[in-house]
Amino acid sequence: MILSEKGTLLPPPRAAAGQSRWRSVGVLIIHAIAFAVVLRTSFELYQRLTAGEDPSASVAKCPQVEPLVPSQKSPALSGMEDYLQSDKFRDETVKRMAGAIRIPTQSYDDLGPVGEDSRWDTMYDFADYLKSTFPHVHSVLALEKVNTHGLLYTWKGTDASLRPTVFMAHQDVVPVAESTIDQWTHPPYSGHYDGKYIWGRGASDCKNNLIGILEAVELLIDAGFKPKRTVVLSFGFDEEISGRQGAGHLAQVLINRYGKDGAAVIIDEGGGIAESWGSTFALPGVAEKGYIDVDIIVRMPGGHSSIPPAHSGIGVASELVTLIEAHPYEPRFHAENPYLGLLECGNAYSPKFPSSLKKNLPWKESPCPAKKDKLALEAAKQGDATKYLFTTSLAVDVITGGIKSNALPERTRVLVNHRVNIGEKTSEVQAKIVQLAHRVAAKHNLTVQAFSDEPEVPSSIRLSSNSSLSLEPAPVTPTSVDGVTPFRVLSGTTRALYGESLLMGPALMTGNTDTRYYWDLTRHIFRYGPGYDPEQGFSLEGIHTVNEKVSVVAHTAGVQWYSLFIRNMDEADLA
Ligand SMILES: *[C@@H]1O[C@H](CO)[C@@H](O)[C@H](O)[C@H]1NC(C)=O
Ligand SMILES: *[C@@H]1O[C@H](CO)[C@@H](O)[C@H](O)[C@H]1NC(C)=O
Ligand SMILES: [Zn+2]
Repeated sequence: MILSEKGTLLPPPRAAAGQSRWRSVGVLIIHAIAFAVVLRTSFELYQRLTAGEDPSASVAKCPQVEPLVPSQKSPALSGMEDYLQSDKFRDETVKRMAGAIRIPTQSYDDLGPVGEDSRWDTMYDFADYLKSTFPHVHSVLALEKVNTHGLLYTWKGTDASLRPTVFMAHQDVVPVAESTIDQWTHPPYSGHYDGKYIWGRGASDCKNNLIGILEAVELLIDAGFKPKRTVVLSFGFDEEISGRQGAGHLAQVLINRYGKDGAAVIIDEGGGIAESWGSTFALPGVAEKGYIDVDIIVRMPGGHSSIPPAHSGIGVASELVTLIEAHPYEPRFHAENPYLGLLECGNAYSPKFPSSLKKNLPWKESPCPAKKDKLALEAAKQGDATKYLFTTSLAVDVITGGIKSNALPERTRVLVNHRVNIGEKTSEVQAKIVQLAHRVAAKHNLTVQAFSDEPEVPSSIRLSSNSSLSLEPAPVTPTSVDGVTPFRVLSGTTRALYGESLLMGPALMTGNTDTRYYWDLTRHIFRYGPGYDPEQGFSLEGIHTVNEKVSVVAHTAGVQWYSLFIRNMDEADLA
């Protein structure tokens, strides 16, 4: 079966032949009548299409690499590998995780500047805790404090010509609402260990990553490992409220130091390992959707509500809201969307990959846009969580207007939140909403002020967005495994740890991590939680809500992964 192909990379010529064949299929099916002279060939290919793709061709579209184990060995490193799997290590890392969780490093939406707002001060306790908990890290790595609480560790490699490996994680956690504390099975800042899970705010978002990375470095130092390639740990402290103070400053220091594209790879929090279509996929995030909030202000004359116009400002704003919701964004694949890559992987390996999707693959080679749209529509039927991986989302989230029962509202405000599809732009979102606003404005004799800096005028619909909150979709991380690439090293490390039945697939994030500030540092950004507990599966349960916890099996596997990845990157002869 197809699975016998796993781990093998098919030679490119065969793949190329497969691609051109598919290109013909697409053209010929659509234009079969016009191209009657080649009808016979077309029919032959059509038969192949309906019979299912040649398995080797589909496998070539989602190549799975061989497990990658470090070649540098020593008794101390082997001892470390054994220790990482021991009960002793498990019990010790549980204690260190619990200690980290017990420091409530909450970041609040309304935090003032660092140095002024004393609520940031828990970060001092956290830094002190790390210092006393990871002595080797703090004696061997250089630690710089960036914007007071940003922790930038540098483990200098012996070969300065090698671009560094960068690990990220954030120190802060989402606040626990007072009113929810009694809903927690174990108190949110207890770090309680029940023999299987460590409980508490930050347990899986993402003190597990932060502590996991430090555990790996601490043990590698202890085992005498000396990197050739510099290792950088960059820990922000306000990721949950945009990351501007932490990652915003840290990224700038790194870009100034190493230059544009100066890092080999970045690993930050993100996608994990999950079941899909009957297969287990590791799903590192290689793309992020864009973001834009559009603020709409409807200005209408005030006056007494005993002699009202047919539509008040609230009525007009409602009409615009109705129009906006009546024109949602369609599911749409652009060639760079990683979910297309994941569909290819599902098609190649997964026993339960739906035939409705199989039928509409392959996409890249199809010259017919209708087929790609069909694929998007079919894929969207898997549910909203999937649909929004290739659809711009739109949500009217805030409305305010009116102050009194006997006064007409002069100013009605609506906020529409959008997460922008990969391959689209925030300016397209703006253009669409401008067009809809014009329709409503024309009807009610209002002026449209479209994303201009001019002050508000009476009788108007004013559209604006705060450009410092807007974000274009992230550049897509390359996932080629031709030659030695960061994705190949990441994939090989993951398959070395979890075995070859685990498949690598590209994924995308509908939210953003601190990596938004790091785009210039490298194109190879992976948002990835490598720790996995097969018994628990992938779980977002508890993240940003009550009962956050992490499986100790997943956590210790994560430490193993970080230590292997550091060693594998050190040996990688990157192109
Ligand atoms: C539309 O508004 C303009 C000024 O804002 C006014 O001069 C004009 O009479 C209005 N037209 C209608 C049909 O209400
Ligand atoms: C835009 O957002 C930034 C960051 O939250 C904020 O500091 C600024 O005040 C906002 N600007 C406006 C005009 O609201
Ligand atoms: Zn996080």
